[in-house]
Amino acid sequence: DGVRRRDFINIAAVSFAGVGAVAVVIPLVDQMNPSADVLALASTEVDISSIQPGQAIKTTFRSQPLFVRHLTEKEIAEADKVDASGLRDPQTLEERTVDGKKNWLVTMGVCTHLGCVPLGAGEGENKGEFGGYFCPCHGSHYDTAARIRKGPAPKNLEVPKFSFTSDTAILVG
Ligand code: FES
Repeated sequence: DGVRRRDFINIAAVSFAGVGAVAVVIPLVDQMNPSADVLALASTEVDISSIQPGQAIKTTFRSQPLFVRHLTEKEIAEADKVDASGLRDPQTLEERTVDGKKNWLVTMGVCTHLGCVPLGAGEGENKGEFGGYFCPCHGSHYDTAARIRKGPAPKNLEVPKFSFTSDTAILVG
């Protein structure tokens, strides 16, 4: 009986460590979002039917800017020709998109340096040296897969959980 009890305690300790590891990640998001308690489970459906290749839209997800970008074949090729293993935050375009639809790039519009909203989603905005997004606050350049390529930002623009609900709509969250 004493042995079983110890086993239970060990299992409980492991589970607690698991929960702790998750909790480390979540506060980073919560800090940027004052209404996180209320909005934590909110999903947003986005109509993507009118976004032409080469265009993007800015919308919001859980009170933060969200970029939905329809990549051109050229932008996809530019992202794919980069050796992802050499990047600051190594990810391929395929890993940053879903369902094999590499032409739909969905990211938060929040610079991973200090949280400014990068340029590049709006018509005529500066897309930076790598053709994706440019954060004017301290000069971070993101590529066509919204991966950090130059400047102080430590991470790629975050890709939220999302799925296609049809050919013309996505559900984010
Ligand atoms: Fe974007 Fe500093 S907040 S570069």
